[in-house]
Amino acid sequence: MKKSGFTLLIMAMLFVLAACGGSSSSGDKESSKSASTVSSGEEIYQQNCIGCHGKDLSGGGGPSLKEVGKKYNETEIADIAKNGIGSMPSGMVDEKQAKEVAKWLAEKK
Ligand code: HEC
Repeated sequence: MKKSGFTLLIMAMLFVLAACGGSSSSGDKESSKSASTVSSGEEIYQQNCIGCHGKDLSGGGGPSLKEVGKKYNETEIADIAKNGIGSMPSGMVDEKQAKEVAKWLAEKK
């Protein structure tokens, strides 16, 4: 096999990867915000929570979440993420995202 065949294969793989990232499911229901495919808890945190709780969970506009897993369990965190608490606004993430991010945060202790 010649080298160029291999290069072509790599390019094809990259293309497939790129294509998968963009459009997967047909989720065009009531998504006024960015069509949110459910990603990892950490990614959800980075996209929705970092502004108030800090890059390293150390807080800022909101309290530090570094030890949030000591204070709340996963269900409680999911509830806060979805419904807000005190001066934290609600509705930043949907239910699925809230669960994912809570799973990730519940381990911070
Ligand atoms: C607009 C700013 C803002 C954003 C964005 C935000 N929060 Fe908050 N968050 C707050 C504030 C302010 C509080 C404290 C509320 C209070 O107790 O009055 C808080 C409190 C919390 C608490 C409780 C902490 C404790 O020790 O009592 C959790 C858990 C939490 N936020 C998780 C999240 C998650 C998860 C996200 C992303 C989905 C998020 N927050 C996004 C402002 C924000």
